[in-house]
Amino acid sequence: MRHLIDILDLTTAEIDELIETANDIIQNPAAYAHKCEGKKLAALFFEPSTRTRLSFEAAMYELGGHVIGFSDAGNSSSAKGESVADTIKMIGCYADIAAMRHFKEGAPLVAAMRSDIPVINAGDGGHNHPTQTLTDLLTIKREKGHFDGLTVGFCGDLKFGRTVHSLITALSRYENIKFVLISPQELKVPSYVKDLLKEKGLSYKQTTDLDSVMPELDILYMTRVQRERFFNEEEYLRLKDSYILTPEKLKCAKEDLRILHPLPRVNEIAVAVDDDPRACYFRQALNGKFIRMALILKLLEEAGK
Ligand code: CP
Repeated sequence: MRHLIDILDLTTAEIDELIETANDIIQNPAAYAHKCEGKKLAALFFEPSTRTRLSFEAAMYELGGHVIGFSDAGNSSSAKGESVADTIKMIGCYADIAAMRHFKEGAPLVAAMRSDIPVINAGDGGHNHPTQTLTDLLTIKREKGHFDGLTVGFCGDLKFGRTVHSLITALSRYENIKFVLISPQELKVPSYVKDLLKEKGLSYKQTTDLDSVMPELDILYMTRVQRERFFNEEEYLRLKDSYILTPEKLKCAKEDLRILHPLPRVNEIAVAVDDDPRACYFRQALNGKFIRMALILKLLEEAGK
């Protein structure tokens, strides 16, 4: 049974195929409108979500399928102590594929090990978010046309931002990408991510100063400071506004820079930036639906469903 737990579960050739399918869905939505008739997606969200859950649901509906699930762990039997392993065993009786978001790192992997249906990791704690990464890759491909040779800046909470960890991992497989890691000292990327870049001999630099690196960037991937992962509220309050992107700050950026953000945004991008044609975070959120349609199709087909 094929699952998607980590972005590295997919080869770069498979990612390219998913991007191609997503682009085809965008061009020819009617051709996909009945592909999942009679199929059910279980959306198992143990942690809050807007984009991921609703784009998975919209994706399945637009493929002609149905959706079951919950958006609050308190409404599931996990509130009575049921394990993730038992939950997924039950879900396999009711649905053909499952998307799981969980506050505990590794929970979707545990589910996948016991599951009779494909399990998609829709975000596990501060660890991974592979379908956001597919969304980001589709967005970069559509906006820039290629991955190779780009200088990509990641800015904000690089410690707890699971989308950052997954996207750096995915981009590390392409040629000549330069990584610029912009964060406060306290929110630097975990050492396992830096070790990956070192092992592959990839170029990266770390800085606390967004202004000084802005002119070099082709992509600026902004992130929010992840309040829910902090143990100390005072520390969060001290760090939360470390970076606020404004039109003023973008004056020295390239004309063809693209600004991405997995969203939700809190305060790290001023609303005035939304009108800048280089801001593509809302287009990015829309792309999330199309790439999830492509992923659902692939995993159901591989499962013989
Ligand atoms: N980008 C993202 O994962 O958003 P949600 O938390 O709203 O799903």
